[in-house]
Amino acid sequence: MRIELFCKQLWLLDNLMGRVIAVANQKGGVGKTTTAINLAASFAAAEVNTLLIDCDPQSNASSGLGLVKDPDRVSTYHLLLGEASGEEALATTEIEQLWLIPSHKNLIGANIELVEAERREYRLREAIAPLRDRFQYIVLDCPPALDLLTLNALVAADSVLIPMQAEYFALEGISELMDTVERIRVELNPGLEIEGVVLTMLDERTNLAQQVTAELRKFFGAKVCATTIPRNIRLAEAPSHGQAALVYDPRSKGAESYIRLAKEILGRASVEQLSAVSSQLSDEAEKPSEEMDKSA
Ligand SMILES: Nc1ncnc2c1ncn2[C@@H]1O[C@H](COP(=O)(O)OP(=O)(O)OP(=O)(O)O)[C@@H](O)[C@H]1O
Ligand SMILES: [Mg+2]
Repeated sequence: MRIELFCKQLWLLDNLMGRVIAVANQKGGVGKTTTAINLAASFAAAEVNTLLIDCDPQSNASSGLGLVKDPDRVSTYHLLLGEASGEEALATTEIEQLWLIPSHKNLIGANIELVEAERREYRLREAIAPLRDRFQYIVLDCPPALDLLTLNALVAADSVLIPMQAEYFALEGISELMDTVERIRVELNPGLEIEGVVLTMLDERTNLAQQVTAELRKFFGAKVCATTIPRNIRLAEAPSHGQAALVYDPRSKGAESYIRLAKEILGRASVEQLSAVSSQLSDEAEKPSEEMDKSA
């Protein structure tokens, strides 16, 4: 039994199962798409099969990974409307273990088209369910609104990663996002966790950045990611070349910081899963003595 569990531990390290992370913040321009692209690319570079789903009609994650606009391509819109399966919507990228489900500007219509639909908040969750065992990580890039698209992403997700800028107004609107997460937990997705808050476009030298970081740590505690993302021009240039930063300039501070963020998240997940297996292991270890007691 011990050997079986030990094998399970090793297997878990290799096969963290389909965790879905929604990158969300209703505030615009805080680095959601930059985080979604570069986190997903960094997972894939760590040899973890990863899928990035563009849930934003602006389609920045799609064009940022080099997908040219094509009105006929299968997109997140078709998934939500039930017109295509997840499998049919998968597109490959230039990174070997990274796949993409692209968006299209007609996704903006889905908000209205689904208003009367049954189980409209569960559309994405149900569409990606068959893909969960193919990918170890599924990253969802959300639009800057608490609309039906973000709601679908939060209902489909296991956790939400919140990119935030260290600026005076950063905490404004966060309570609205937290209320939404809480409401979704109660009504639609009890398992939804906060993956973390990641500080983006950070200039650590400023007093303001330090004050806001301290405020965030008071509010979110250990949920504030240890890794922060600096303001780095390479991160802003990479999407115009249709590339993740680790392809465009792997040695840039921006690429390196997202690789560190991916490691932090992967490390946390494996520690959680391993501790679950370890407690199973110690439960199992106690069993033979119980059985011996009974036979005595
Ligand atoms: N760390 C960074 N350093 C420099 N520029 C950055 C960084 N992160 C993001 N940017 C730039 O800031 C702008 C906004 O970033 P991004 O598109 O990722 O935000 P967003 O939250 O997805 O925006 P939206 O709310 O419109 O979807 C983009 O031009 C992006 O290239
Ligand atoms: Mg975006």
